Amino acid sequence: MAYSVLVNGVLDDFHDEVSVLSLTESQASALFRLSTNLARTGGPQAPGVRAGAEISASTLREQLSPDQTEILDLYAQNRTTVLIVNGMIGVSNDAIPPELPSKESLTDDFRCLTIAARSQILLALVKNRTFAYDLDYNEVVRLVGNFKGGGQNRIANEPPPDEVELSSHSGLALGAHTEPPYYCSFRPNNGHSPPPSTLILSARWNPLREPTVVIPVSGVLEAIGADACQELGRRTFNFSRPDSYVSGDEDGNAVSILDYDASGDFAIRFNAYRFTTPKDASKSAQAALASLKRELTRAPQIRVPLESTNAMLINNTKALHCRDVIQDNRRLLVRLFGYNSSVSAIQLSSDPLLIKG
Ligand SMILES: [Fe+2]
Repeated sequence: MAYSVLVNGVLDDFHDEVSVLSLTESQASALFRLSTNLARTGGPQAPGVRAGAEISASTLREQLSPDQTEILDLYAQNRTTVLIVNGMIGVSNDAIPPELPSKESLTDDFRCLTIAARSQILLALVKNRTFAYDLDYNEVVRLVGNFKGGGQNRIANEPPPDEVELSSHSGLALGAHTEPPYYCSFRPNNGHSPPPSTLILSARWNPLREPTVVIPVSGVLEAIGADACQELGRRTFNFSRPDSYVSGDEDGNAVSILDYDASGDFAIRFNAYRFTTPKDASKSAQAALASLKRELTRAPQIRVPLESTNAMLINNTKALHCRDVIQDNRRLLVRLFGYNSSVSAIQLSSDPLLIKG
């Protein structure tokens, strides 16, 4: 398996799809100060912080060089697959605990809120609006850690293996996927909103530097060929609902995997362990799905060890992500979603922005 690891801010491959924004010390200090201020007022879940993040991003933008601004603008225009932000100030005096605290105790934790607020500012810098889905219990900030078992090492109250959730709240390996929902790509369809344009991930603790894995999709689509891509664009596939969603939202039927917008730009929605073809699917649809799954296992990967001084913005329409089984149960990531300006969605409330999934 070919892969590329971020080392000292340099990726040795994927030049055309991955950008790295390295902050100077004074920019990092300004971002830290702005993030801390937003965390003090409650972080991304609190009313008013949405506007605060926009103002903070404008303040920070004034300090950026033309080259840095260009990196952000290209991402905002949906022309970048992965954007890594380096050189940030981590949360200070933050010793790694002997074991991962409960999700409940971390939700309002100031250091988690600071990282989350920082991510919201970074999303605003690339013209993405931060939001939550009703499907995700209205949570703007998702803490990704082994709260439910399934990691390399058992946690207290580990459930039996067959009862461990296949979600970001467990320690299980997760196959290649884009973030759901999977009903549509650009505009609402049948009462459902599109998936996020961006997921941004950073870490509070990652003692073993366990990587987050990203698979850019453009090379995979080239490998499977135009005919298979055409099949993936038909509304012939089914998916099962994610484990972590609120109950009531069930499986999806007759959806496409690949979409193209008016300008010919593509968006993929896929999950290697949730998508299937119906029993009466054509041979060509079955072959296209099998071919996509096969090429995804061969595709080059980007493996980024997240920490509190970096963040990764994954373009959820152009890359899949996955992870190996979690080794150190103290690993804690912080995740937020953003929509870029070309996506329209079903808005349930505006501050914080809540979307019907
Ligand atoms: Fe995910």
